[in-house]
Amino acid sequence: MGVRTVESSAAGPGPYTTAGGGGGGPLARQDPEIAEVIAGETARQTGSLQLIAAENFVSPAVLAALGSPLANKYAEGYPGARHHGGCEIVDAAERIAVDRAAALFGAEHVNVQPHSGSAAVIAAYAALLRPGDTVLAMGLPFGGHLTHGSPANFSGRWFDFVGYGVDRETGLIDYREVRRLARTRGPAAIVCGSVTYPRHPDYALFREIADEAGARLIVDAGHPAGLIAGGAAPSPVPYADVVCATTHKVLRGPRGGMLLCGDELAGRIDRAVFPFTQGGAQMNTVAAKAVAFGEAAAPAFAAYAHRVVANARVLAAGLEAEGFAVLTGGTDTHLIGVDPAPLGVDGRTARGRLAACGLVLDTCPLPYGEGRGLRLGTAAVTTQGMGEAEMARIAVLCTAALYAEGEEVRTLRAEAAALAGRFPPYPG
Ligand SMILES: Cc1ncc(COP(=O)(O)O)c(C=O)c1O
Repeated sequence: MGVRTVESSAAGPGPYTTAGGGGGGPLARQDPEIAEVIAGETARQTGSLQLIAAENFVSPAVLAALGSPLANKYAEGYPGARHHGGCEIVDAAERIAVDRAAALFGAEHVNVQPHSGSAAVIAAYAALLRPGDTVLAMGLPFGGHLTHGSPANFSGRWFDFVGYGVDRETGLIDYREVRRLARTRGPAAIVCGSVTYPRHPDYALFREIADEAGARLIVDAGHPAGLIAGGAAPSPVPYADVVCATTHKVLRGPRGGMLLCGDELAGRIDRAVFPFTQGGAQMNTVAAKAVAFGEAAAPAFAAYAHRVVANARVLAAGLEAEGFAVLTGGTDTHLIGVDPAPLGVDGRTARGRLAACGLVLDTCPLPYGEGRGLRLGTAAVTTQGMGEAEMARIAVLCTAALYAEGEEVRTLRAEAAALAGRFPPYPG
């Protein structure tokens, strides 16, 4: 496998002009062991191609808020009604985060305290359901998240989850099955959301089916939240009773969750987060969420979100041309699911071989296939400033990596590192 470089199609280097977090300064002096871990991980992230669909590179401003003294503050409760003293100043951070998110998503009420996407989903269930209720959600083999009824998760133990799937031929959500199950099983809630589904759900149709069944509609927009914020995906906010989201994927904020709902559910949602399922809010993270929402409101973020999708489409087409079977035949989002079986390699083996060549991605379930497939995403590489020429080359590298051995592995890894190195997310 020869090393061939690509002509850049991208607008330029990544968007950040100052260095991000690192292991230098006081940390290196006080705790060289951990400083070394941070330096090593920073080098790994920037020296290989990050194609994990749930990851991104946050801005130095988000990192600064995360690493600020707001991390010291205890703040149980909500702005103006805290259980701890001295919250007047951090209250402002939460109010700003809530106002920015409400404007960004057009939501009447926002809760920015969930510590993670899972915590947001737990709170949504706590607000709307009772233990033992029947809940309809995408089955795990089709891309449902652990919190959508996995027996290993609280959701599968405390609720009676019924799974809907996707059409065997098209890979698209089987809405007739959703409707049939809603009619026959009488769920208290329907959950719409997935970790692998690369198409836009029909939120209006989900609403119609939920109304027919007298069910609540919970949209778990953990993945598309950033695309929605950037206008590159339709919004579930007008249709859902509650929208759960993560703030750290395409949305490019700190690791965390959030909840959006109408005014009538505001009190239930807030009480479900605190005190029902969480303690004190993490105010540094809340402030970092505010920074990310501010960034996402800028026109440059909308352009970014659309580039993420354009890049994913090129990458999906490239992988298909190389012989991968692309789930649903393509993508409308940042997510791409592929089955490498036509190339003679199973998903788990493929992930390991690609990782050895500097292409970092996940496996994913295959709705009707054998074993597992591969899930890729374009949020991080797009933040770095890569464009369609780089996506086309990454598709070629993925295929070459499936079969590479010995010296070929080193050559491919060097090309992946060189490509990543041309688009440093944190120059300097
Ligand atoms: C749809 C969906 N829900 C929930 C989560 C959980 O988020 P977290 O890992 O922050 O708990 C994810 C994360 O991938 C997700 O994609």
